[in-house]
Amino acid sequence: MLVLGIETTCDETAAAVVKDGEEILSNVVSSQIEMHRPFGGVVPELACRRHVDILLPVIQEALEKAGVSLKEINLIAVAKGPGLVGPLMVGINGAKTLSFCLGLPFVGVNHVEAHLYAALMGQQERVLFPALGVILSGGHTSLIKMEAVGSYQVIGQTVDDAIGEAFDKVAKILGLSYPGGPEIEKLAKQGKSDAFSFSAGKVKGRPLDFSFSGLKTAVLYAVKGPRAHMDSPVVVGEEQKADVAASFQEAAFQDVIKKVREAAKQQGCRSLLFGGGVTNSRRLREMMETELPIFWPGEGLSLDNAAMIAGLGYHVFQKTKISDPLDLEAVSEYIRL
Ligand code: KG4
Ligand code: ZN
Repeated sequence: MLVLGIETTCDETAAAVVKDGEEILSNVVSSQIEMHRPFGGVVPELACRRHVDILLPVIQEALEKAGVSLKEINLIAVAKGPGLVGPLMVGINGAKTLSFCLGLPFVGVNHVEAHLYAALMGQQERVLFPALGVILSGGHTSLIKMEAVGSYQVIGQTVDDAIGEAFDKVAKILGLSYPGGPEIEKLAKQGKSDAFSFSAGKVKGRPLDFSFSGLKTAVLYAVKGPRAHMDSPVVVGEEQKADVAASFQEAAFQDVIKKVREAAKQQGCRSLLFGGGVTNSRRLREMMETELPIFWPGEGLSLDNAAMIAGLGYHVFQKTKISDPLDLEAVSEYIRL
């Protein structure tokens, strides 16, 4: 079964063709980062307009790269949320239009679930279940016990900022550009990770939940002085900025790794599946040592992409065997797994 995937939840316009949920024939991502960079974050209205302009060319490119025509596609899968509602609507309406005109079924899939599915794609080894799914993205930080594709139990999540969001905000404090994660990783290489004793927050009575907002405030005070706010001037030099970046990155990842280990042990998980943009970090991959087999997303599957949407869409359709209705709506908020 050939599935055309479409992804427009935020600032990437993406389309992909995937065979039988597994074999990626093409995976095209057009990033809007340069357009949003001067604003220090994604501007939803600009994102919508860019999605409208380039969705069809991106789909066309995905078909050409896969060497298939629209007539050969059997199913359309689209990210229905969570994400920015305007950008989501562009992708969803594109999928509905193609579905209607071509007489093809379409399914809306959960973007967060797709990030987890990305770690399963193209792996040589078989994933052993139950697995612990670890979502580390700009919008989510979750620990999920997974019995199979489609069977999930959330056992930990952030109570405030998502980890990627914390990286983006800390980058802003340090005067680095958007998106912050890769910038912090680069700067951290020149710094000492034990220079500042930062630590992520604990959530009372919920040892597997995350809290990054206190860590972000600790960075703010270290860089701009006690009781400073976001617009206050930076009071440290370049060397100290690198130390802050390294110490923050280490503290955030140590917290994740500790909780991942605890959760896997507590839930009797037999492998670890990582998903989301933050898993692009080389440093995280170096630090994450465990005895369990670890599955990281392959090349091009960490950050937002449509191959993971097409791959998961295949399984959703195998289960339901029915197309979603043409009045399917975008869901901007969290979707229950
Ligand atoms: O999964 P993603 O592409 O979008 C969401 O669904 O949110 O993740 C984007 C997030 C951003 O917050 C970005 O700063 C973070 O992933 N990120 C990183 C790295 N590369 C991307 N965070 C830490 N280290 C990195 N190397
Ligand atoms: Zn994402």
